[in-house]
Amino acid sequence: MSDQLPKGIELTPLDDAYRADPYPRLNQLRNSTATYHDPEFNMVIVTHHEDVQRILRDKDMLSDPRKAREDDMTRRFMPEDGREPSMLFMDDPDHRRLRNLVNKAFTPRAVEEMRPRVREIVDELLSAVTDGEFDLIAALAAPLPSIVIAEMLGIDARRHQDFKRWSDISTDVFFNVFPTDDQIAEAQEASDSLNALFQEEIEKRRGSDAQDLIGAMVRAEEDGDRLTTEEIVSQCNLLLIAGNVTTTDLIGNGMKALLDNPEQFEKLKRQPALIENAVEEMLRFDSPVVSSGRIAPEDMTLNGCPVHKGQSITTSLGAANRDPDIHRDPDQFDVARDNIQHQSFGGGRHFCLGAPLARVEGQEAVRGLLNKFPNLRHGPRGHAYKSVPGFRGMSEFWVQT
Ligand code: HEM
Repeated sequence: MSDQLPKGIELTPLDDAYRADPYPRLNQLRNSTATYHDPEFNMVIVTHHEDVQRILRDKDMLSDPRKAREDDMTRRFMPEDGREPSMLFMDDPDHRRLRNLVNKAFTPRAVEEMRPRVREIVDELLSAVTDGEFDLIAALAAPLPSIVIAEMLGIDARRHQDFKRWSDISTDVFFNVFPTDDQIAEAQEASDSLNALFQEEIEKRRGSDAQDLIGAMVRAEEDGDRLTTEEIVSQCNLLLIAGNVTTTDLIGNGMKALLDNPEQFEKLKRQPALIENAVEEMLRFDSPVVSSGRIAPEDMTLNGCPVHKGQSITTSLGAANRDPDIHRDPDQFDVARDNIQHQSFGGGRHFCLGAPLARVEGQEAVRGLLNKFPNLRHGPRGHAYKSVPGFRGMSEFWVQT
């Protein structure tokens, strides 16, 4: 049967049909088999909501690619230059130690305090938009998260442009398991510049009481050698890489779902209190992160499929989010849907640290757009999807006021 199922590149946005709409293929996989062995990439993929949730929450599952088999895809995420991996690719106790140090800045309460500033940035960005056709990604969805995270880290405002450019280039390649040589070279240069910028900022914080995130990490380091400079640089990189493009894609994909479903757009305009639920539905309906994963700690079988110790298990968040056992009419976008149980932020120990921030930014961006442009609709210049495997988002999305 697996001969007829999509495999390899056909399950990545490098394939045109998948890039345009991955859900027919993800639905096909989920409806055919709970655990799929992709013969081309030698990858085990789980697609049912229950399995995805169980594996992500399983405390025995691993995330450190150094523990994967020599021939496993996950090894591509190992830093090649001996740099520290980020917490996303660490196991406890190191994972817990690093996560605890930055956790405080990202709690729902801490992030809620940032809401007025996020709203202000949304308003500033939208005030630059004039009536007519504009690219929603360039005007709002891309700059918003990088301005927010640059301010949280405490990056000098004069360096914001550089910061954004370098972080965009390194992010584009970081998660891309099939980069070209040119992309790798460009990303290496950007990442070196970014790391030099972080190191400069870290040096500036020494002996200061700066109340930003870099300051907090430096003080934690000085307090008891708990965080090395290398580790701080690595955390800064992760916050950029994990937080910028994903939040951009939440705003882009979410607004596209609204414009594709004008009755939902009208409903949200009539009932603005639905905004929080609407953003959860946007996360479910078209998740910016299509898959996450773990590494098997020992030989096991998953729904009858053998998995070897050190083999990675890909959890398809996109397939789980549309599992009809959990969500009725899963292919319908419904801003008033109740009991949304999306997996878009992953789960367990590695559950997205930035989820509260992504939610606030998503809510404020959508609210700002609806308030300023109540008649927003698709623009004639259309949209284009990016092609980074495991992710889903647009490089441009033209809309009309
Ligand atoms: C809509 C936007 C976002 C989505 C869809 C998203 C999704 C995810 C996913 C799927 C994971 C992996 C979870 C797992 O494997 O269990 C993750 C981890 C992470 N995310 Fe996000 N993310 C978003 C925004 C952000 C933001 C704004 C930040 C911070 C500024 C952030 C920081 C992180 C960090 C640090 C991790 C690693 C956590 C750990 O390993 O303990 N994310 N995110």
